[in-house]
Amino acid sequence: MSNPLNLTTTNFFFLIFTITILYVTYTIPRLQLQQPKQTNLVFYVHDYLTGHDMSAITVAGKSGTSSSILHFGTILAVDDPVTEGPSIESKEIGRAQGFYINSQLDGKGLHLVFSVIFTDGDFKGSTLEIQGADIFTMKEREYGIVSGTGYFRFVKGYGVMETEFMDIANLRAILKHNVTVKHY
Ligand SMILES: *[C@@H]1O[C@H](CO)[C@@H](O)[C@H](O)[C@H]1NC(C)=O
Repeated sequence: MSNPLNLTTTNFFFLIFTITILYVTYTIPRLQLQQPKQTNLVFYVHDYLTGHDMSAITVAGKSGTSSSILHFGTILAVDDPVTEGPSIESKEIGRAQGFYINSQLDGKGLHLVFSVIFTDGDFKGSTLEIQGADIFTMKEREYGIVSGTGYFRFVKGYGVMETEFMDIANLRAILKHNVTVKHY
């Protein structure tokens, strides 16, 4: 009497081959789903301490609210416009809300803690949480993206900030941010 399964060598290898194909077709898409996506975005933050369009105020410091942001210990609250291009006339895509503290004894470094709240464009309704050192005498400053919401849930990454424009006398600056993040 023959084997009821009739498992000849050829059949056996065909069975193994089929199982392998099924396993691969099932696993590969799952692996790809779990790979983080990378997003790069560039935006501009308008940080104005004076003028009719003032967006940042001193809330504390060595000399109270009259302290200069260029002195150690001064804290600013910010609600800065975030635009697509370097000009304030370009499309506003969000706000940078949070605070800066001058955290370097010689006055030349800030610690930044703020949210970028996207209100328009591709990331409308999502946020990025930014934290890091801003040694503003340097051309490029790198900071961390510590978390995010919406499209940016589980985000991790970094940003590079450059001063696009600076009017030191009136404390008005435009900052270019180039952000690279990984998320799911
Ligand atoms: C942003 O940074 C990336 C590298 O991190 C670079 O390739 C790209 O050219 C930069 N974009 C702009 C507009 O500066």
